[in-house]
Formats: sequence, C-alpha cells, structure tokens
Amino acid sequence: MRGILLAGGTGSRLHPTTRAVCKQLLPVYDKPMIFYPLSVLMLAGIREILVISTPEALPAFRALLGDGADLGIELQYAEQDRPRGIADALVVGRDFVGDDDVALVLGDNLFHGAGFSDVLAHCRATVEHRGGAVLVGHVVADPARYGVAAIDDDGRLTAVVEKPADPPSDVAVTGLYFYGNDVLDVAADVEPSARGELEITDVNAAYVRRGTAELVTLGRGFAWLDTGTHASLLDAAQYVAVVESRHGVRIACPEEIALRMGFISPAQARRLGELSASSDYGRYVVAVADQADRPTPTVLEAV
Ligand code: G1P
Repeated sequence: MRGILLAGGTGSRLHPTTRAVCKQLLPVYDKPMIFYPLSVLMLAGIREILVISTPEALPAFRALLGDGADLGIELQYAEQDRPRGIADALVVGRDFVGDDDVALVLGDNLFHGAGFSDVLAHCRATVEHRGGAVLVGHVVADPARYGVAAIDDDGRLTAVVEKPADPPSDVAVTGLYFYGNDVLDVAADVEPSARGELEITDVNAAYVRRGTAELVTLGRGFAWLDTGTHASLLDAAQYVAVVESRHGVRIACPEEIALRMGFISPAQARRLGELSASSDYGRYVVAVADQADRPTPTVLEAV
C-alpha cells in the first residue's frame, strides 16, 4: 500500500499566520503539523509516501523531510497548483499509486489513542483483501462542520454527506481514508461541487452506493483533532502538551516510529536526535534510541 499526504490549501481560516507559511508546517506544540499525519501513515507500515502541496510550500517540505531516507521511508513530492479539493490528491497521485492500494491522510488531522496501530492494521488489511473503501469515523459535538456518516440500526454505513445542515448522525468522517486501486478511476470521474472542489465525500459516496465502503468508528478513548482555525490549533497544541508532559512520551514522533517499526536502527535514530540536540524533542529521540540499544531484560516467569 502507498500513502498520500495532502498538505495543500490556502489556510485562509488561519490568516494572517498562513500568508507566508503553509498551515501544515505550523507547530502543533513541539513539532510541525505534518509530523502527525506522517506518523499515521508510518504506523500503518506505509513506507512509500507522496506529499502533495502548493508550489510555494513544497521547497519547505523538502527541506524538512528530504527524500525520507533518514526515516527509512521513501518520500516523493507533487504540486497542487490551486486548491482543487481533497479528491484531487487521487488525481495528482495517480502515477505514484500505480497498481497499488492507497491510504490518504489530510495534513491537518491529528489522531491519538491506545490501540491505534491495530485500527490501522485492520483498515489496511481490509482494503488489501477485498478492495473498496475503509473510512475512519469519530463522534463529534459539531458534525455539521464535517463529512458525516449515516448509519443504520445494524451499524452499517448507508450514506456519507458533506457538511449537512441536518446531520444524520454525530459521526464525522475523519481525514483518513483507505482505498483499493479502483479509487483512481472513481476520483477521475468526480465532478466539481458547488464550491468548485473535487469532494472526497463524492468518492466515498460512490463506494457506499456499491456496497463496498466500511466505516471504522474510533472509540471514546481516541482523540481526533483538526487544526483549521486558531482555536482548534491551540486546542490541539494544548492536548499534545498535556499528554506529553504527563506521560513523558511524544505523540507522533516520526523518528521514534521509524525505530519501533524497524525502518531504522537505534544508531540512525540517535543520529537524527542529535541533529536537534538543543531541544527537548531531540533529547527525547536520543533517549528512545539509547533505550532501544539496551538488551531487553529477561522476564522470569513466576512458577
Ligand atoms: C474535509 C472533508 C470532510 C472531512 C474533513 C476532516 O473538510 O471535506 O469530509 O470530514 O476534511 O478534517 P474541509 O477541511 O474541507 O472542511
């Protein structure tokens, strides 16, 4: 499976902050926003990833992430010259995806919760076995701001609607989607909506009509945050700060994930940490690498 990370848009709801800096490069507490969705794809075991952004912002993403080799992954970059909608990522990414399946994640979505790796493994395996689409849902207080899932009494997905005035449920469709290869053709057939964009909800609705869309709803223990407004960006930063300082672990640290996934060695993780040695973040990466280097103590079973 290949991954697409869409980090485009004008970030107009964050102006003037985003006039000169792309939204997905802004910090969410201790790291650039793009680290969060990048971590999601890496946790799903996806190592070939296409980053799509504006021509103006792409050089900064390249400067930040390079070709991915440091993290044991392969990053490519592609331009979206103006905001054409989320589904356009599957048009821009057509050659990159080739014959493979694909996971698409939005550059401003943050996911956090115990057992997330298992959820990702389920989504990936489902699409790899039977194609179709797997959408990730989360209950929200304000569903009208999002794509919303309609669900029948048996928990089956019956429709998806974009920003409905009268939401059929309180389950928002998050910005993380898994598709079989046929999504390239589905996306190619989508027509621009009233707001002039290729809506991902139209792609998802096509799968619902075919009966090949599954909704995986994250439970109450999960946090799903977006960062589209000043207030939600601050909420996300505070959430990350509270969880990290309380537990002493970092959320969405790609160096740590690369190490734990076996993409890089402890020595390489330490090298990466040392590049940011003056920050707590860098020192954390070094500490994680040192820990991984130590032999695991033998656990003696009680008899
Ligand atoms: C987009 C999608 C919407 C989805 C949301 C998740 O909304 O259109 O279906 O629920 O991302 O972040 P937008 O960011 O374009 O308002």
